[in-house]
Amino acid sequence: MIISTFEEYNATYKKSVDKPEDFWSEIASEFYWQKKWDKVLDWNFDEPNIKWFINGKFNITENAIDRHLPEKANKTAFIWEANSIDANHRVITYQNLHDEVCKVANTLKSFGTKKGDRVCIYMPMIPETIFAMLACARIGAIHSVVFAGFSSSALAGRIQDSDCKIVLTTDGACRGAKDIPIKAVVDEALETCPCVEKVLIYKHTNTPITINKAKDIIWQDVVPSALSTCEAELMDSEDVLFILYTSGSTGKPKGVVHTCGGYMVYTCYTFKNVFQINTGTDSKDLFWCTADVGWITGHSYITYGPLLAGASSVIFEGVPTFPDAGRFWKVVDKHKVTHFYTAPTAIRALEACGLDFVTPYKLDSLKVLGSVGEPINEEAWHWYNNNIGKGKCPLVDTWWQTETGGILISALAGVTPTKPSFATLPLPGIQPLLVDDKGNELFGNNVEGNLCIRFPWPSIIRTTYGDHNRCKEAYFSTYKGLYFTGDGCRRDENGFYRITGRVDDVMNVSGHRIGTAEVESAINMHADVVESAVVAYPHDIKGQGIYAYVIVPSTTKNHDNLRKEILAEVTKIIGPIAKPDKIQVVSGLPKTRSGKIMRRILRKVAEGELTSLGDTSTLLDPLVVDEIIKGRL
Ligand code: PRX
Repeated sequence: MIISTFEEYNATYKKSVDKPEDFWSEIASEFYWQKKWDKVLDWNFDEPNIKWFINGKFNITENAIDRHLPEKANKTAFIWEANSIDANHRVITYQNLHDEVCKVANTLKSFGTKKGDRVCIYMPMIPETIFAMLACARIGAIHSVVFAGFSSSALAGRIQDSDCKIVLTTDGACRGAKDIPIKAVVDEALETCPCVEKVLIYKHTNTPITINKAKDIIWQDVVPSALSTCEAELMDSEDVLFILYTSGSTGKPKGVVHTCGGYMVYTCYTFKNVFQINTGTDSKDLFWCTADVGWITGHSYITYGPLLAGASSVIFEGVPTFPDAGRFWKVVDKHKVTHFYTAPTAIRALEACGLDFVTPYKLDSLKVLGSVGEPINEEAWHWYNNNIGKGKCPLVDTWWQTETGGILISALAGVTPTKPSFATLPLPGIQPLLVDDKGNELFGNNVEGNLCIRFPWPSIIRTTYGDHNRCKEAYFSTYKGLYFTGDGCRRDENGFYRITGRVDDVMNVSGHRIGTAEVESAINMHADVVESAVVAYPHDIKGQGIYAYVIVPSTTKNHDNLRKEILAEVTKIIGPIAKPDKIQVVSGLPKTRSGKIMRRILRKVAEGELTSLGDTSTLLDPLVVDEIIKGRL
C-alpha cells in the first residue's frame, strides 16, 4: 500500500485508472470491517449519486483506535502543546485516547444522542475536541465542527441548518495573547437555536460563564465518571460521518457531507503515501499539522488520517507568532517533529519576521515538509525549503478541498519529484483534466484551464446537507459528467499541475475560504450601505486580501466611522477572518445594462491592473469606472 519509488507510483497510478475498483478494494481490505462490502462502487455524476464499498459495515473509530491497541496501547497518539509557553504539554496514548473517547461517547449517549443525530462542536485546539469528534463517530452521531473563530451568528446559522441537538464547547479559548469567551458566543447563538437540547462545556480557561440550568452541563462533572468502554455503533459505508460547512460562490455556506467508508480509506491512504511517515510501534516519526480542526485539513490530517494510520502527532493550541515568531520552530525542536504540515500564509508571515526567529533552533529532526490551503508562491516555497527544511526535506505542496475530503494532487515525499509552486501529480485514483470555459477538454501539456475530475475517488463529497440540488449545481452542473473544482490550473511541459487559484467568486484569505456573497451580505446589514461588491486582491501575507466597494448615501459623511462600523458588522455576522482589508466608498458600481455587477473590472482595479480593464463602453454608466479608479485605495 505504500508507494516507495517513482516507478511504483507510475505503475500504481496506471492500475488505479485501469481498474479503479480492484485498486480501491485492495486498499480497503487493509481495514477492519465487521461485514465486507458487496460492491466497490456505484456512481454517476449527473444526479450525483456516489457510493463506495456498498453495504460494508464497520465503525471508523475501531479502525482509528481499537485496531491499534494490541500493539500500540502505549504509543503516543497525540502530544498537545498549549498556547502558553509555560504550560505543560500533554501526552495522550492510544489507550488514553480509547478511554477518553468512550467516556465522551457514553456521556453523549446519556443525553439521548443516537445514531444520525447532529452534534455541533465549537471548541479550540485541545485534545478534548478530538475526543468529541471521535465520540460522535463511535456512536454514529454526525459531527459538525465549527471553527471557534466564527461569530455567534455564523455559529447559529450552522447549528440551525443541520438541526443540531447537542453543542460541545469550552468556557474560553486562548489564541496568542487573546482570551476568547467561547461559551458566551454559544449562549448568544443559542438564542435562535431551539433545536439544541444540551450543551456540554469543557472548563479549559476558567473564564467565568453563565449557566443555563435547563441545558448546560460541565464536562468535568460528568465525563470523568463515565464508563471507559463503549461498544462502537455498526455503521454502513455510506452513513454520514460528518458535515463541514464551507463557503461557495453563492449564498450561505453549505454543509459538505462525508460518509464513513470512503473517507476512512482515502484519508488513511493519502496520509501514509503523501507524507511517507513510519507508523511502526517503535517509530519516532512525529507528524504535526498546524491547521485547526475547524477546517477540513484538521479533520483529515489531524484527526482521522493520522489515527487511522496509527501515527503520532502534535496538536497545537496557539498561533505561529506567540509569544514570538519562533514558536513553531521551538515546538519542532522540543518534541522532535519529523513531518511538518502548514499553510503558505503562515510561512509568509514568519518569513516577514526574519531569520532571527529561525536560527536559534536546530530543526534537525525534520524529514518532510508540507503545504496546504492556497497556492504557495515560489519565494515562500524556497524560504520554507531552505531555512526550515535546510534543503534536505522533500516539500509536498498538497492540493485539495473540503469537498474532496483528502489530498488529490501532490508529490509523495521523497518518492516523486517536486517543483516549486506546483502541486505536481495526481495521487493514484485521481483523474484530473483541464477544460476551457465551454467545457472542451484541453489535451496535452503546456495548457491552462479549469480543473475538473472525471472519475470518483472514495472521499468525494456525497451531498450538501439538506439540499442535494445545491451539490449538483455547485460541482456537477458546470461541465456535464465532471466534478468541477472551482480552481484554475496549468499543466506544464512535464504534465505537472500548478493550481493558479479560484476562478469563481470564492476568496482564499490566509488559507480560509470565504465567499464574496457572504461578505457582501454582511456589509449590507449596515444601515447606511445601499449596495456593496467584494473582490479579492493579492496580499503579501494573506495570499488574498478582501477589497470592498460600498455605496452609501451622500449624507453619510464620516467615512472613517463607517469603515469601523462595517468591520464590526462583518465580525459580528461572520467573524474577524472575513473583515475587509480595504473599504472604498463609491457612488456607483460598474454594471451591465442588465444590472449585473462587472466584478472583473472591480478585481482589476483592486489589483492595480488599470491598463487592462477591457471594454467599459457597454456599461450602464462608464464614468463610474473613472471615479472608482481615482478613489482606489
Ligand atoms: O483554491 C484551492 C485552495 O483552497 C481551496 C479549497 O479550500 P478549502 O475547501 O478550505 O480546503 C483547504 C484545505 C484543503 C481550493 O479550491 N487550495 C488548497 N490547497 C491548495 C490550494 N491552492 C493551491 N495549492 C494548494 N496546495
